[in-house]
Amino acid sequence: MGSKISLALALLLELLWAAAGLHRSQFPDSFLFGASTSSYQVEGAWLEGNKSATIWDVFTHLPGKIKDGSNGDVADDHYHRYLEDVELMHSLGLNAYRFSISWSRVLPRGRFGDINTIGVEFYNNLINSVLSKGIQPVVSLCHLDIPQELEDRYGAWLSPEIQEDFGYFAEVCFKAFGDRVKYWITINEPNLMLKFGYLIGTIPPCRCSLPYGNCTSGDSTLEPYIAAHNVILAHATAVDIYKSKYQVKQGGFIGIVINCKWYEQLRNVSEDYIAAQRALAFDVGWILDPIIFGDYPTEMREILGSKLPTFISQERRKLRHKIDFIGINHYTTHYVKDCIFSSCELNKYDGNALVFTSAQRNGQLIGTPTPMENIFVVPYGMEKVIMYFKERYNSTPMYIMENGFPQKSSNDMLLDDLVKDPDRIDFMQNYLTFLTKAMRQGADVRGYFVWSLMDNFEWLYGYSVRFGLYHVDYTTQKRTPKQSAKWYQEFLADQRLLHQKTGTNLKTQGFK
Ligand SMILES: *[C@@H]1O[C@H](CO)[C@@H](O)[C@H](O)[C@H]1NC(C)=O
Ligand SMILES: *[C@@H]1O[C@H](CO)[C@@H](O)[C@H](O)[C@H]1NC(C)=O
Ligand SMILES: *[C@@H]1O[C@H](CO)[C@@H](O)[C@H](O)[C@H]1NC(C)=O
Repeated sequence: MGSKISLALALLLELLWAAAGLHRSQFPDSFLFGASTSSYQVEGAWLEGNKSATIWDVFTHLPGKIKDGSNGDVADDHYHRYLEDVELMHSLGLNAYRFSISWSRVLPRGRFGDINTIGVEFYNNLINSVLSKGIQPVVSLCHLDIPQELEDRYGAWLSPEIQEDFGYFAEVCFKAFGDRVKYWITINEPNLMLKFGYLIGTIPPCRCSLPYGNCTSGDSTLEPYIAAHNVILAHATAVDIYKSKYQVKQGGFIGIVINCKWYEQLRNVSEDYIAAQRALAFDVGWILDPIIFGDYPTEMREILGSKLPTFISQERRKLRHKIDFIGINHYTTHYVKDCIFSSCELNKYDGNALVFTSAQRNGQLIGTPTPMENIFVVPYGMEKVIMYFKERYNSTPMYIMENGFPQKSSNDMLLDDLVKDPDRIDFMQNYLTFLTKAMRQGADVRGYFVWSLMDNFEWLYGYSVRFGLYHVDYTTQKRTPKQSAKWYQEFLADQRLLHQKTGTNLKTQGFK
């Protein structure tokens, strides 16, 4: 009887929540609502202020690498326009802004040269102006764009030397900015960086071997794991320095950001459920298990054997400090099928987990496609990803550090059309709704950051897709709010808003 009543009450509550729609008041006041960018994607000024070239500067200048032949030399010219951009954040009502520090701007030659005071000054100015608007800076130390010199000298992540360089860079930043920066991210999406950079070899340093990819050098069967080992220990070096020398004095938090697509089982059989768990272990556990539990997942050890490095005792000691939070970048969901008991084609990106991944089940797409071929709109993935992290990592606090919608863009599209982005509003609203479902099940999520504040350089896609709440005209550098900017602003201003599917109830006029 009692359980029937509580079940009825739970159902009633569920209905009431659903009827209320998505609302700012469903989140604690302290919840961080922000937007994200990264240095290479927005700053431009690629060789100004004594900055050195990064691996991305060098790569984008090679012919044929970027879809539209573009590069980040100018990007959003944020380096010169940051004051205007801070105004955009302020007018949205953000209480947090996530950006990355360009290693090459602060230490153009890594630990082999001097601290570049011009670079330090730029980030001081940015941090101070963000704070002056009541916005918390959330800072990534490494978001892909490492100094080319470290690649040339010792092969960057392939060498243990990177641990010392990264620790040195992190300490320079803690010292210079840690009195004001309270949220530190060591490395952004190392799992994607390792798979694209060392397994399939499509992004710098473009190392791989057949059949994973066709690179001039590399070894896809070994190097991703060697580089990952150094990534994990470089992260641990920075955490160790922060926790033992700065955290008590500065009172901040430090974590890492992992990309996690959700792996949904293709067939309703236990083999595919286990395959999905295995795919997650190879994608997420690969980096987070050592950081949180001290060793690689058993699923990886069983399949890779001695190809997977082991942590020697001195390295284990480095991993003793725990991170304060996990950052999650989540965009999409794919189906996964077991390839141990069923015969199937191993895909290059996830196949080492002995799985096949696909966006289709019985000819039906998992979600609406987007201009990025791997991103499909699957809002329920947000809840599943968060619940997975909650359970696997013992309720370590979580921040959604990126979530956003790629919008098609081409030269013949007009500004008037590009600022109409009801698909992005639906995307954010639906993903946020599933985020609140996870929070109601006890998930300790403390923030949500939209990717991105403004349109910017989208890596291999160049400027051919737009993720921004603000449209950027790359000729004039004019920023224009899209309908999604107005939606986010109204949501954050605590206005009850039930967005209609068409988005036609949203007017851009009069919006500042
Ligand atoms: C910038 O680089 C130039 C050339 O290497 C050097 O002479 C100058 O001192 C540097 N400026 C600063 C502020 O470090
Ligand atoms: C790899 O790339 C080289 C150079 O572009 C090309 O000649 C060769 O045919 C490619 N090999 C395969 C197996 O695709
Ligand atoms: C999956 O299979 C189980 C039994 O094996 C069944 O109870 C369940 O309803 C199935 N779920 C779906 C979505 O088909």
